[in-house]
Order: sequence, then structure tokens, then C-alpha cells
Amino acid sequence: MTEVLELADVVKSYPGHPPVHALAGVSLTVHEGELVGIVGPSGSGKSTLLHIIGTLDRPSSGVVTIGGHVVSTMSDRRLSAARSSLIGFVFQQFHLIPSMTALDNVATGLLYTGANLTERRFKAFEALQRVGLAHRLTHLPSELSGGERQRVAIARALVNKPAIILADEPTGNLDTHTGEQIMGLFHDLNAQGATILVITHDRELAEGLPRQVHIRDGRLESDSAATVAA
Ligand SMILES: Nc1ncnc2c1ncn2[C@@H]1O[C@H](COP(=O)(O)OP(=O)(O)O)[C@@H](O)[C@H]1O
Ligand SMILES: [Mg+2]
Repeated sequence: MTEVLELADVVKSYPGHPPVHALAGVSLTVHEGELVGIVGPSGSGKSTLLHIIGTLDRPSSGVVTIGGHVVSTMSDRRLSAARSSLIGFVFQQFHLIPSMTALDNVATGLLYTGANLTERRFKAFEALQRVGLAHRLTHLPSELSGGERQRVAIARALVNKPAIILADEPTGNLDTHTGEQIMGLFHDLNAQGATILVITHDRELAEGLPRQVHIRDGRLESDSAATVAA
């Protein structure tokens, strides 16, 4: 199976007295087509891990490979060009642009691809169709429900067909029922082939995922995939 993400002994320390080892040597492999939950309590290192996998921050040591590219040492310039084809981000707070329609919010996911506006809008339309929002193209975020906003954000994350979708507490701002629908959407997209990593503190939510990796004090505590393989 193709490896989409590989972390090899990733350490992230923050200077101080004493220094904080937010990640204390994390090794993890995710294959194409997986849907993985990274679960841990507050302070366990989830956000740090998300920033490092998302290439928004660099490890103190260790190697991060995404889609066959070693991103932990890639130059900022190359990263800016490559990021949107490697990673699609979904955040708890949606992070949509308030003045843009749903269609144009999704089209921003293609800004760095060189595609012209017509192409970007057509692909954005297809992505909105995939998340069940083809009837909300011209709505502004303020005219959409929370669940619909998160669907727009998911469409933006997948519009450039990234190697992996990285979701940080994607249901954290949604009521239980809407949260379940968003998790259902992740399952559907995964069934169509998307590789997805969901970061959450919610153990119950993670239990619905095919693979769960538990993190505590900057270390991987357990990995359900490893248990199955053993
Ligand atoms: N910029 C920073 N400087 C110093 N310590 C940090 C910084 N960011 C996070 N930490 C510390 O690293 C640890 C892990 O934090 P974080 O990754 O945010 O955990 P989580 O997202 O699981 O709550 C915590 O002890 C936190 O206080
Ligand atoms: Mg956090």
C-alpha cells in the first residue's frame, strides 16, 4: 500500500526553563485510503502535531514525508507552492472568507495552482456537489448553517485533490447531530478514496473511526492499526 504520510521520530521542543517537549519522538505511517483519528487530552501535543504534519511548523528533529515529499526540510518557497496539493485543512472554526460566496470560498483552494477563474469555479462547483451543497453556491457564510459552513470548508480542503485531508476538531463547533453528519461525510469521502486524519479530544467520536491513534504527553500511547497487525 502507498504511504501517504510518514513521521519518523519527530521531536518538537519549545525553549524555556525547563523546555517543553511537546512531541517527544513520534513515529507514524498512514497509508492511502485510511481514515485515522488522533486522540488525546488537552496538552497532549495534538495541535503541535497538526502544525507539523500541516507543514505550518517544523520539527526540532525527525523527518516528515507527505506524498513522497520530505516536507520537514523543504524550503518555504517550495512548500507554499506544494502545500495545497499535499494537504487539505479543515478547522474547528471553518475559517471561511465572510465576503465570498460558497463557490468562491472553495475556489480559493485552487489559487496557487495556476488554474484560471473559470476552471477554479468549475472545480469548486464539483467539490461542493461532492459535499451535498450544489444548491448553496451563491450563499455567503453568514447565510449558511454551521454544518453547511463546515461542508464548504471540506469542499475547499478537497478541491485540489490533496494527498491527505487534515481535520482539527472538525465537529467542535457543531451540535451533536450536525457533528455526526460531518463525520458521516468524512466516511463517505474516505469510501471514495480520500485519506483523512481527524484530530480530536473526543474519544467517543474517535471510536467511530476505523483506526485510532492515542497520544499523551507528546508520545503515541497506542495505535489500533498496530494492535490489529500484531
Ligand atoms: N508555542 C509554545 N511554546 C511553549 N510551549 C508550547 C507552545 N505550544 C504548545 N506548548 C506546550 O506543548 C504542549 C502540547 O501542546 P498542544 O500541542 O497545544 O496540545 P493539545 O493540542 O493536545 O492541547 C503543552 O504542554 C503546551 O503547553
Ligand atoms: Mg490543541
